[in-house]
This record gives sequence, structure tokens and C-alpha cells, in this order.
Amino acid sequence: MNQGRGKFITLEGVDGAGKSTHLAWLAERVRQRDIEVVVTREPGGTPLGEQLRTLVLGEPMHIETETLLMFAARREHLERVIYPSLAAGKWVISDRFTDATFAYQGGGREMDPRRIETLETWVQGEFQPDLTLVFDVPTDVAARRRGARDLEGESTSSGAPAQASRDRFEQQNRAFFERVRDGYLRRAAQFPQRMKILDANRPLADIQVILENIVSSI
Ligand code: TYD
Repeated sequence: MNQGRGKFITLEGVDGAGKSTHLAWLAERVRQRDIEVVVTREPGGTPLGEQLRTLVLGEPMHIETETLLMFAARREHLERVIYPSLAAGKWVISDRFTDATFAYQGGGREMDPRRIETLETWVQGEFQPDLTLVFDVPTDVAARRRGARDLEGESTSSGAPAQASRDRFEQQNRAFFERVRDGYLRRAAQFPQRMKILDANRPLADIQVILENIVSSI
């Protein structure tokens, strides 16, 4: 797929699975091997993509509009960041990519995955990440972590979760996140070569050992 080029690694998981912490650590480990690393995210990763992110996380919209905007941002991201970086031999580590659309819009919002596949083929052809790490935690654990994050970001001392700071996805209920989690697990079962599930409930040091081994193998 990316023969002779950089590697494309994506990190996935429900909100609150802890992928941001692992992403920073992983990028540092790869850099220590004298490899140039581009850290990026979806939706976003380009100036236009970041504007689309603000819209899609903030404005109420039809599910198909939401999905189309995810892929519009992705198209820019591929063209301006991902493809050129890989071609230049850099590794690209992205906080989410197309598996998130299958999990959130397909699983969470119950959109027909065949429609998502059509957009996937349109926007990226056969292109896929070399490796996708799915950080998996029980839905309750993820909800607790999201709650803790809300409290950290709070400016008042009321003790109530700062609901207003939650984006359109973080505001969803437990059933939504169960469907997102199932969406990721189903997809990982479908693409076992590319997608690795990590139990994100384990101690950080354990996860880092597993990550180190996986990265060495590619
Ligand atoms: P996230 O990456 O979790 O950022 P933060 O850690 O800053 O909250 O937030 C992005 C949100 O976008 C997340 O809730 C998942 C959602 N999302 C989709 O619904 N579909 C997609 O295709 C992508 C890339 C993200």
C-alpha cells in the first residue's frame, strides 16, 4: 500500500478512552527512531478542515450533512497533509480517521454503512491506514473519564458537570456510546490485520509496552 513511503497510523476509540495521551506518547517513541512524524486529527488537520470541525461539532444538522462534512474535511486532509507527508517518507499519526465515521455516524447515529462505504471509495479509493489502534474501554469507564474532563475544565465551583462545554457527540447518551463502541469492535473484527484493539482500561505502562511491540512490528 505505502511501499517505500511513510506509515499511516490512526488512533480510534469512544470519547474518553484516553487516546490523546497515547497519541502523544506514541509520536514521541516514533520520533526517537529518527523518523519524522506528522501528528494530525479528524475532523480537522487543515485550516478548512478545522473550520468544518467547528461546524460539525457545534451546529445541529442532518445526519447526511454531518457525514458529508466529515468526508469533505477528510478530502482536504488527504490532499494537503496525509498523501504529501507519506510521499515524503514521513509517518502520519492521526487522531481518528474513516473508522470513526463507521463507528459514530454508522454505529452511533445508525446510518446505513453502505452509504458510508460509497463515500469512502469516492474520497479515498483503496487507501487505508497501515495500522489502526482502537482504544477500547467499557462505556461506563469512558463516561466517567469524560465527566472528569468536564470538571477539570470548569470555571465555577458548582460541582455540576459543565454540559455546555460538551460538543454534539459528547452530549450523547449511553446507548449512543454503546453503539459507537460496538461499531469499532465490529470493524476491528472485519479488518483484523489492520486494526488492533487495545484494552484501554489497563495501566498506562502495560499499554505502552503493547504499543511499543506493535509499532516495532511495522
Ligand atoms: P475528538 O477527536 O474526541 O476530540 P476531543 O478529544 O477534542 O473531544 O472529537 C471529535 C469528535 O468527532 C468525536 O466525538 C468523534 C466525532 N467524529 C465523528 O463523529 N465522525 C468522524 O468521522 C470523526 C473523524 C469524528
